[in-house]
Amino acid sequence: FSPPFCPFIHSSIIPPSCLFSGVSIIACEITKTAPFLADALNVLLIIVDDLRPSLGCYGDKLVRSPNIDQLASHSILFQNAFAQQAVCAPSRVSFLTGRRPDTTHLYDFNSYWRVHAGNFSTVPQYFKENGYVTMSVGKVFHPGISSNHSDDSPYSWSFPPYHPSSEKYENTKTCRGQDGELHANLLCPVDVADVPEGTLPDKQSTEEAIRLLEKMKTSSSPFFLAVGYHKPHIPFRYPKEFQKLYPLENITLAPDPKVPDGLPPVAYNPWMDIRQREDVQALNISVPYGPIPVDFQQKIRQSYFASVSYLDAQVGLLLSALDDLHLANSTIIAFTSDHGWALGEHGEWAKYSNFDVTTRVPLMFYVPGRTASLPQAGEKLFPYRDPFDSNSALMDPGRRAVYPVELVSLFPTLAGLAGLQVPPRCPIPSFHVKLCREGQNLLKHFQLSDVEEDPHFSGNPRESIAYSQYPRPADSPQWNSDKPNLKDIKIMGYSIRTIDYRYTVWVGFNPDEFLANFSDIHAGELYFVDSDPLQDHNLYNGSQHGEIPQSLRP
Ligand SMILES: *[C@@H]1O[C@H](CO)[C@@H](O)[C@H](O)[C@H]1NC(C)=O
Ligand SMILES: *[C@@H]1O[C@H](CO)[C@@H](O)[C@H](O)[C@H]1NC(C)=O
Ligand SMILES: *[C@@H]1O[C@H](CO)[C@@H](O)[C@H](O)[C@H]1NC(C)=O
Ligand SMILES: *[C@@H]1O[C@H](CO)[C@@H](O)[C@H](O)[C@H]1NC(C)=O
Ligand SMILES: *[C@@H]1O[C@H](CO)[C@@H](O)[C@H](O)[C@H]1NC(C)=O
Repeated sequence: FSPPFCPFIHSSIIPPSCLFSGVSIIACEITKTAPFLADALNVLLIIVDDLRPSLGCYGDKLVRSPNIDQLASHSILFQNAFAQQAVCAPSRVSFLTGRRPDTTHLYDFNSYWRVHAGNFSTVPQYFKENGYVTMSVGKVFHPGISSNHSDDSPYSWSFPPYHPSSEKYENTKTCRGQDGELHANLLCPVDVADVPEGTLPDKQSTEEAIRLLEKMKTSSSPFFLAVGYHKPHIPFRYPKEFQKLYPLENITLAPDPKVPDGLPPVAYNPWMDIRQREDVQALNISVPYGPIPVDFQQKIRQSYFASVSYLDAQVGLLLSALDDLHLANSTIIAFTSDHGWALGEHGEWAKYSNFDVTTRVPLMFYVPGRTASLPQAGEKLFPYRDPFDSNSALMDPGRRAVYPVELVSLFPTLAGLAGLQVPPRCPIPSFHVKLCREGQNLLKHFQLSDVEEDPHFSGNPRESIAYSQYPRPADSPQWNSDKPNLKDIKIMGYSIRTIDYRYTVWVGFNPDEFLANFSDIHAGELYFVDSDPLQDHNLYNGSQHGEIPQSLRP
């Protein structure tokens, strides 16, 4: 069976051979171009800010996320997906261009890749150039210079991107403190009726996204709609009723709340940004190691989880609207986050590191008729599920892929799923190439489930590697260790994460030449997943110097 075109594109019913035969899947990758858009699938890309996989569908027993769990039940879920750098702008520019930070040259917030690295295409731009209407709602690109103060308009988007008007209050004094006054706090459960404009940014983004879906329902072109949610990014400003889902007495601390003994100081980051909030300032926490008082640790965790449930409700409203508009049978849904967030693990409260808690992200894809059967007339795949309804039955977990995968693979994977030509693998270097991929097309994972015994999966889990990196200004924690500017970067921590271990070397880095010096090793980390899943017992041994695997450099 070797079709001239991907059958996926031309029929809403996918022949089983396309699903399960390696041969036809290759055919799917290399065919589709713009003239064949008649039956093209739409894309809804949901990007969450600072969301680690603390979700029911990832096995979290405490967090209420019934709507995301429901999406997972109809999706293929990647159990081990990793961001390439655990900070917003570099991660977003990386996965939206399909290039690693070493290619976008963005490790901070201060440059626009088209000018300072190469004129790389983005995922939405690629869909736009293939006949899609592309739309951005909320935080998709990081705002500011890293997207030319325009979310990369006009290249990426068919219309000017939408930003919720109430976003401007996020960092202002809108949180009622114990003294009855308004403060710019970290913990900020609010009465929505009382806040300026009587709404919150993510509520507005959901409403705008639904309005756009209604508009696109009658469009003759397929759409690519990216919706970027702000929560659970700090400050934890969310409707206060969500706090009730997490009584403080039920909130535990991180299982490993202390800075680990064998952790090299360069690997630690001092989580400066929460310290700037008024409620945290009042605690006089010691810099750089803390700790935060135990009761406040519980409150931070409570508010993070409450923010996740509030986010889940927004996702539920959006997906049920998609369903009501009968678009669930023609829309691919991808759900992910830019990186995670440490909730006290290793004594840290931020992203900005190479630990799994900050690099690991949720990643799932729903593909109509492929990861779930097509909804029958009148059937709803995504009815709204109330996070407050404790009877919300546990969902079927859906299909899982356990191999480590990278967020930089989102671009080729979405292209492949939509039947567009998958960009070719990048040459090295690739600064002059507008369109190529550094990640992989994850389509092969969509065959059956890729448990190790699966004879249909050609990959070897021991060869499946996710790369991440993080820059530092010095060997010990400084005020700017969280977010060094490019010119201050002296050390880069390069990580490989396999299914068995994480191995990181912190090496000298020259920010003028963008060059790492792998013979200038400052520190190393090695953790085995089976014996030390939380990454608290560093097994790196200095005598390993000089034995750095070739594969460490992506
Ligand atoms: C960069 O790419 C965009 C679209 O791909 C194109 O319109 C623009 O002219 C290019 N800019 C340069 C300087 O090549
Ligand atoms: C960035 O934005 C400015 C101001 O709108 C514009 O003049 C410039 O051409 C943009 N840069 C690129 C590379 O498109
Ligand atoms: C809190 O914990 C208690 C005891 O384990 C449990 O019965 C109760 O359901 C929990 N409450 C919530 C809201 O999870
Ligand atoms: C923090 O320090 C200030 C000024 O030094 C002091 O007034 C305040 O009581 C301290 N707060 C706590 C919680 O220790
Ligand atoms: C999706 O479902 C709607 C309503 O049941 C139907 O009109 C439409 O043709 C279906 N689209 C596809 C691509 O199957």
